[in-house]
Amino acid sequence: MVNVNKAELIKKGFVDIEIDKSLDLHSEINKLRKEKNAVILAHYYQEPEIQDIADFVGDSLALSQQAASTSADIILFAGVHFMAETAKILSPQKKVLIPDSNAGCSLADSCSPDKFAEFKNKYPGYTVISYVNTTAEIKALSDITCTSSNAFEIVNSLPKEENVIFAPDKNLGNYIKSKTGKENMVIWDGACHVHERFSLERILELKKQYPQAKIIAHPECEQTILIVADYIGSTSALLNYTIKDSSNIFIVATEFGIIHQMQKTNPNKLFIPAPPDDSTCACNDCVFMKMITLKKLYNTLKYELPEVTLKEEIRVKAEIPIRRMLEISAKLGL
Ligand code: 13P
Ligand code: SF4
Repeated sequence: MVNVNKAELIKKGFVDIEIDKSLDLHSEINKLRKEKNAVILAHYYQEPEIQDIADFVGDSLALSQQAASTSADIILFAGVHFMAETAKILSPQKKVLIPDSNAGCSLADSCSPDKFAEFKNKYPGYTVISYVNTTAEIKALSDITCTSSNAFEIVNSLPKEENVIFAPDKNLGNYIKSKTGKENMVIWDGACHVHERFSLERILELKKQYPQAKIIAHPECEQTILIVADYIGSTSALLNYTIKDSSNIFIVATEFGIIHQMQKTNPNKLFIPAPPDDSTCACNDCVFMKMITLKKLYNTLKYELPEVTLKEEIRVKAEIPIRRMLEISAKLGL
């Protein structure tokens, strides 16, 4: 191993070492992942070149299922921190690496463990369902987790009379509440900075321009957007919809990265990113997801840094609600 100052690197949160510009990163990454028996998992919101080099690309649920079942020694997670943390919770004996540990999530950040513990204390006896977009500490305070792929089924798996706390995404929570008709559900007031920025007005202008287009939206979008959507689903559900639906044009209200897979699987269809409320920003790009670059991926695999670590006490508690989610999902074939 090259002489790197580990402490410095860990402080920075990513392996910021200059690399030889003539290196073919693709073949170097391929060589290293073979040598080290590493698997590269990438979320649909990653840059196209990261998605294309990954061993597996998927949504939060599929990625956690992969992390739980892989036989690799190293899991290199191209995604945001809570996703890599979930992989570590499920596979503690494996080395889990993330190319930039500063790749956070505004939604996970909207729910601090202290405030959430206070909130939970106000509702004794309530079952806590937390969306996986949370820190391990929040998962440790939860009874069961969910993702956007299975939130409906997870809520529905509980007896009707059971009182529920749903955290942290209020848009997903309200959408599931209306879909399941579960009245006794209190919802934490959190949201994602990408999914809250779509402009209804600009989406409707696009729809006028392309009247045959279908509007498809992630359930983290605000209700005003969900009301006009022809289809609502997780990233993988949206992708599957674009494959099965006969329409040739889609207005896509979720993070921009998913369009890469949509275009790849439907080369003859047109995908228009739903415009954000500010025409001068690329607000439908998740800045955290886009912190992962090919260079960082290469350095991370090479130096095996930064590594995701967790206090065992928290990990053990956080594993329970995730396993419960995976069991229910497996039973339902999700
Ligand atoms: P998925 O559950 O569709 O992977 O969404 C994850 C996410 O971060 C949405 O913003
Ligand atoms: Fe978090 Fe939103 Fe980025 Fe998803 S898109 S990782 S919810 S900040």
